[in-house]
Amino acid sequence: MAFRFGNQAVINIFVGVVIGFFFAVFFEPLRYTNTQPLRYFRTFAPTEKDTHHHDAHSDSDVNDADAPKEAYHFHPNGTDQHNDELAQEIAKRVKIFCWILTGKQNHEKRAIHVKATWSRRCNKFLFMSSETDDSLPAINLNVSEGRDHLWAKTKAAFTYIHTHYLDEYDWFLKADDDTYVILENLRYMLMPHNPAEPVFFGCKFKPFTKQGYMSGGAGYVLSREALNAFVTKGLPDPQKCSPGEGGAEDAEMGKCLEKIGVKAGDSRDGEGHHRFLPFVPEHHLIPGHVDPSFWFWQYIYYPIDQGPGCCSDYAISFHYVNANLMYVLEYLIYHLRPFGTGNSLDAIQKYRTNSSEMLKAAYAMSISNMGADDAFKKTLDDIDAVMNKNSTLNNTTSDAPST
Ligand SMILES: *[C@@H]1O[C@H](CO)[C@@H](O)[C@H](O)[C@H]1NC(C)=O
Ligand SMILES: *[C@@H]1O[C@H](CO)[C@@H](O)[C@H](O)[C@H]1NC(C)=O
Ligand SMILES: *[C@@H]1O[C@H](CO)[C@@H](O)[C@H](O)[C@H]1NC(C)=O
Ligand SMILES: *[C@@H]1O[C@H](CO)[C@@H](O)[C@H](O)[C@H]1NC(C)=O
Ligand SMILES: *[C@@H]1O[C@H](CO)[C@@H](O)[C@H](O)[C@H]1NC(C)=O
Ligand SMILES: *[C@@H]1O[C@H](CO)[C@@H](O)[C@H](O)[C@H]1NC(C)=O
Repeated sequence: MAFRFGNQAVINIFVGVVIGFFFAVFFEPLRYTNTQPLRYFRTFAPTEKDTHHHDAHSDSDVNDADAPKEAYHFHPNGTDQHNDELAQEIAKRVKIFCWILTGKQNHEKRAIHVKATWSRRCNKFLFMSSETDDSLPAINLNVSEGRDHLWAKTKAAFTYIHTHYLDEYDWFLKADDDTYVILENLRYMLMPHNPAEPVFFGCKFKPFTKQGYMSGGAGYVLSREALNAFVTKGLPDPQKCSPGEGGAEDAEMGKCLEKIGVKAGDSRDGEGHHRFLPFVPEHHLIPGHVDPSFWFWQYIYYPIDQGPGCCSDYAISFHYVNANLMYVLEYLIYHLRPFGTGNSLDAIQKYRTNSSEMLKAAYAMSISNMGADDAFKKTLDDIDAVMNKNSTLNNTTSDAPST
């Protein structure tokens, strides 16, 4: 009996250890991942390969592990958007075709999130891939996957677009599937330019060329004339455009365009701030984030600050943006508003000539915007009382229920 009891105790201890083990394995890591700061991006360790070959098509560059399983839109019914009346007018005059370089392994991981976020604002977009997918839509360029074929993919993509879309659009943007683009600001930069000018814009790098070339990851945009020259003058001539499959696509593009007289534009704003940014916002905004020995500082054509002076208020693009950050940027750029400033003033614009009316309209908006579960919910009938705080409403400061 004693022996049996001891046996039972051993079993109990064993069961306890097993349960404890399961807690340790399943619950502890959960708690741990939830409290860990999110780490989206690789730390920058410059390698020889990196120096001019920083497309993001190797999965180690960007962490997609926590990406949402499905794409989504903020305010799908189009309510509560910023007033984009002017941007829509400009979009009719500055027509941009976007093509996004991707691969079949990235359709679900990245392309669907590009489609759900920034690419919707292109006048037209296509994913250039190694597999057809009408839902994106993605074109199979019939070019092999991998870094060694990126230049071939780029040539095939521009050729396809030249054949099918040259006359319908003014500007032709190439982006990666981890680029985030603010189309309104791209159009704003391009507005003074004629698509008949042979020019291309992007984040300009120095090497391999006299006039510079545009970093592939931050995206670059060709005028209609530049695209036409590339396909009709550059590609047929192996002295001008490299006939190979491989090589850094952005540098090859820059060398080719230089030889056929397409100018490398300056995409900085009037204050000299950069608009095409080759990293995520954090890496530009936090002083000292990018190591001074990093290849980037030798490559960048125009000086660039780190910290508050890094980036234009009308920035156009960021790179190394994973799916999660795409939604974060989408929210911050197109939805979050400091009330009483900028876009949120538009809603009460008509009251602007009378500041007391404007204030009243602001109160009305605030009342209409109260949470459904607010313990002190007001209606528009209460507006005078709310504005005069002391009049008809009950005293809510002393007996506020704390829930
Ligand atoms: C959008 O509209 C549909 C159909 O009217 C409705 O069912 C849905 O709840 C709306 N969604 C939001 C977020 O307003
Ligand atoms: C790729 O090959 C398929 C099959 O031959 C063809 O239908 C398709 O048009 C090709 N794609 C391009 C972009 O040329
Ligand atoms: C502003 O509007 C209020 C209420 O309609 C009115 O009493 C007031 O005279 C107006 N003030 C001006 C400067 O028009
Ligand atoms: C409430 O405050 C307003 C503005 O300060 C004042 O004009 C009004 O007389 C006050 N009403 C009462 C009931 O105290
Ligand atoms: C103010 O208090 C009275 C009596 O307690 C109550 O009937 C009334 O609903 C209250 N009004 C508001 C706006 O909460
Ligand atoms: C509202 O509550 C404060 C704090 O309890 C009190 O001092 C004040 O007299 C009350 N006002 C009215 C109008 O009941």
